[in-house]
Amino acid sequence: TERTLVLVKPDGVERGLTGEVLRRIEAKGYRLVALELRQLDRETAARHYAEHEGKPFFEPLLEFITSGPLVAAVFEGQRVIEGFRSIAGATDPTVAAPGSIRGDLARDWGRKVIANIVHGSDSPESAAREIAIYFPGLA
Ligand code: GTP
Ligand code: MG
Repeated sequence: TERTLVLVKPDGVERGLTGEVLRRIEAKGYRLVALELRQLDRETAARHYAEHEGKPFFEPLLEFITSGPLVAAVFEGQRVIEGFRSIAGATDPTVAAPGSIRGDLARDWGRKVIANIVHGSDSPESAAREIAIYFPGLA
């Protein structure tokens, strides 16, 4: 069965939304298989967001994702990658659908990078790559 990497980003942890995010994913029916609170260093952040290297928001993105502790989790279930991205909502929280995590809990704060509370892998290949970054011991 499929797995995805979920992050509660530093803005979500700072705002005390970790439990709320995990609750929504568990309530949907996906199974939690790994969980850790950690602070990313610059190298790990750059590895995570390698696909965005060279883009104008890359540096602000690294600054943001390393700005405080985040929560990394792995969830498992049939079509969980697609299912979690649906629960998370659109990247831009201003237009993310109400009912989604970003639509209900995030907004535009006028910062250089969009603070949108969560990350979820976007494909099976990304999921395998990202899970290996955060949980190298996970089979
Ligand atoms: P992640 O779960 O963080 O990967 O978000 P996503 O998959 O919804 O979006 P994507 O991977 O395309 O972008 C990663 C992050 O970069 C986003 O969450 C935003 O914080 C930021 N980002 C993406 N596109 C833009 C953009 O056009 N402008 C700005 N300022 N930030 C962006
Ligand atoms: Mg992404």
